[in-house]
Amino acid sequence: MKARRICSGVRWMGAVDWNRRLFDALIPLPDGTSYNAYLVKGSEKTALLDTVDPTMENVLMQQLSDVETIDYIVAHHAEQDHSGTIPAVLRKYPHARLVCSQKAKAMLVDHLHVPPENIQTVKDGETLSLGNKTLQFVYTPWVHWPETMVTHLPEDKILFTCDFFGSHLATSGLYAGDNPYVYEAAKRYYGEIMMPFRKAIQNNLTKIADLEFDLIAPSHGPIHDKPARILDAYRDWVSDSVSNLVVIPYISMHGSTETMVDYLVSALAERGVNVQTFNLEVTDIGKLAISLVDAATIVIGTPTVHMGPHPAVFSATHLANALRPKLKYAAIIGSYGWGTKVVEQISGLIPNLKVEILGAVLCKGLPRPEDFTALDGLADTIKEKHSQV
Ligand code: FEO
Repeated sequence: MKARRICSGVRWMGAVDWNRRLFDALIPLPDGTSYNAYLVKGSEKTALLDTVDPTMENVLMQQLSDVETIDYIVAHHAEQDHSGTIPAVLRKYPHARLVCSQKAKAMLVDHLHVPPENIQTVKDGETLSLGNKTLQFVYTPWVHWPETMVTHLPEDKILFTCDFFGSHLATSGLYAGDNPYVYEAAKRYYGEIMMPFRKAIQNNLTKIADLEFDLIAPSHGPIHDKPARILDAYRDWVSDSVSNLVVIPYISMHGSTETMVDYLVSALAERGVNVQTFNLEVTDIGKLAISLVDAATIVIGTPTVHMGPHPAVFSATHLANALRPKLKYAAIIGSYGWGTKVVEQISGLIPNLKVEILGAVLCKGLPRPEDFTALDGLADTIKEKHSQV
């Protein structure tokens, strides 16, 4: 993809990674991603905001082939998908200053071995003149690392936000418009990496509220040309309100746990409670993260393996704990062969979840009528709790 004009003096650069399917060797990318960089050319100086993942260095360097001078490279975030090509850009423009937050300096030295003397740190709110354009840096920590910041370009009313408001989405479209899929991808991205820092994101939304901008230009996915839409979505995701939704990640070895899950889904649906199940044998954990953004309740379904939860359930529960969703209630259901300690072990896995435990329904072997009665009781309790949220 060639560089693309956004407005006079501002170009989108970067690489669309159509084929990448996994990030951090963990996060599924069903629709690829992009690494967006932006070139801002003022009357006196030129700045490049972010770079690209080092696997796509050649794309950015080709786009820079007609750019004679870069005075500043702005690193909003030290993670390598945005910073990894900085050393190559510095080799091409050895006099460029690398501009970053105070916390980012050591991280860029550690991760990229950039010479510290090339780095110029900026304070929260500091400005840098490019002549007829101004870069204003605003610290937005914990998106999702501690050093992150955004850049406001007041003359053109653009906010460059790196991971903040981003989406893992490979597309030829430069702008998000009203495309609902962009918002699902942005919610997935928020759930996967920003949700653990929900309070920090709330503060960051407040910090940028006074800035005037018509475009939000993240470093993954399309540019938000209707910024109110993504801002409203983020305000909803970081709010304390939860929806009438039960998320059930589960696995079943011989069918008993799945029978219990199916019964509970039906019992909840009959009571007007929405449910999403995730069979961990086949599920995309990004979909699970999306559901956890605003669900009120998690019910973990597991058979017992060597007295504890199935390893896939162990892993998903550990992930849910790390993502710190705003869940309010939790329960455990499942079947065991001859003995179990799943309640004790799962309870020990979720110290970050500030939830009320609604109980456990465990059965030995195939569920019996009294087990289904217990599941009805759990569904009654969940319905009552959800009526209060
Ligand atoms: Fe897109 Fe945290 O890097």
